[in-house]
Amino acid sequence: MRTVLGVAGGIAAYKACHVIRRLRDLGHSVKVVPTEAALNFVGAATFEALSGQTVTSDVFAEVDTVNHVRIGQEAELVIIAPATANTIAKIAAGLADDLLSATVLTTTAEVVVAPAMHTEMWLNQATVANIATLRARGIHVLDPAVGRLTGPDSGPGRLPEPEEIVDFALAAADRSGPADQSALAGRSVVISAGGTREALDPVRFLGNRSSGKQGIALANAAAAAGAHVQLVAANVDSGLLTGLPAGVEVTQVESTEQLQEAMRAAQPGADVIIMAAAVADYRPADRAGAKMKKSADEGLQITLVQNPDILVGLVQSRTDSQIIVGFAAETGDETHTADEYAREKLVRKGVDLLVFNDVSDNRAFGHDDTTVHVLAPSETGVDELGEFSGSKDSVSEKVVRVIGARLPSVESTP
Ligand code: CTP
Repeated sequence: MRTVLGVAGGIAAYKACHVIRRLRDLGHSVKVVPTEAALNFVGAATFEALSGQTVTSDVFAEVDTVNHVRIGQEAELVIIAPATANTIAKIAAGLADDLLSATVLTTTAEVVVAPAMHTEMWLNQATVANIATLRARGIHVLDPAVGRLTGPDSGPGRLPEPEEIVDFALAAADRSGPADQSALAGRSVVISAGGTREALDPVRFLGNRSSGKQGIALANAAAAAGAHVQLVAANVDSGLLTGLPAGVEVTQVESTEQLQEAMRAAQPGADVIIMAAAVADYRPADRAGAKMKKSADEGLQITLVQNPDILVGLVQSRTDSQIIVGFAAETGDETHTADEYAREKLVRKGVDLLVFNDVSDNRAFGHDDTTVHVLAPSETGVDELGEFSGSKDSVSEKVVRVIGARLPSVESTP
């Protein structure tokens, strides 16, 4: 594949060298288009040696071949890594004052942006709005990693590892054109994310380790596929919510009962409902009005009562054309495999699709990479429609594609 690697001027520019190497190892050609600032960090000679192609950041170089238009036109995938706040702002504004921004304006290929900047810049309202603009236009944005930054500071803003950038970019390029991007055009998709918390008293709760990343990734993928997305977020970190595309409606909830109320309210207008939230099966029978005090004796007994099964309730009150998707994290034991438990759950819950992953080694929680299996009921029992591995973003795109393919066409929808 003919790839273009845009490199903006940040300290993480050195990681672009590894991105070039990995792309070339996988058999792709790489045209490096650095900004002038990037050349302060890594010289053109390094990029030329690694890519085997000439490197310039100037729109007036190689004018005879109309470089500023040709590179974008010929590209089959454009990756910008690292993308600084400044380059992101230029792309959002549609500027074309250097070779990289001109290339982004002229390409019809998938564009993948891997931001890297200081946390303050990433969280600044201007950058948040620019990222939302990029996502709304179908540009794939890889969330920065959390960790050590250039100075003594640390937080979100670190460029993800080159392997992750390349995997994410190739998965984005794999999406096959306009049909997929409009798979959910005009559809309404309701997604729950995160994990519910059940209060014991005003300061304590029973909860689970779900980060909400999977639900957020699904919301991004559904929005990129043209859907109107309502996200019901149970205790999802606000940092994750800020990167959502403009137009995604967010309702924040805490407990299972609040989540159930929000999902029920959203159900009537929905074409698709995805329950990605980890729901507490039990809640304390009583919630103390004041902070509980330690008592003199050793133990504490908490009586739990069962929570409603939100998913089963949604299935019972579904409309004919509605697609309802459950998620399950399963572990196998001495009697059943994780796959067997998942198949039984699909039938028990009556969902149209069950997306499950094996969490025997505890990998899924809070991590970006995952492997999921998508199950659907069939005449003979349960079929596996696919197994998808990769980042939660790329897996979500594939799950959304499966959902889109199962929706009744708009013409036949009553
Ligand atoms: N779910 C739900 N309401 C609950 C529990 C789960 O809506 N009270 C949904 C989850 O959002 C998920 C699916 O059901 O989409 C499967 O969740 P899981 O916790 O695996 O289901 P359980 O019925 O709790 O199964 P288990 O007995 O294995 O805990």
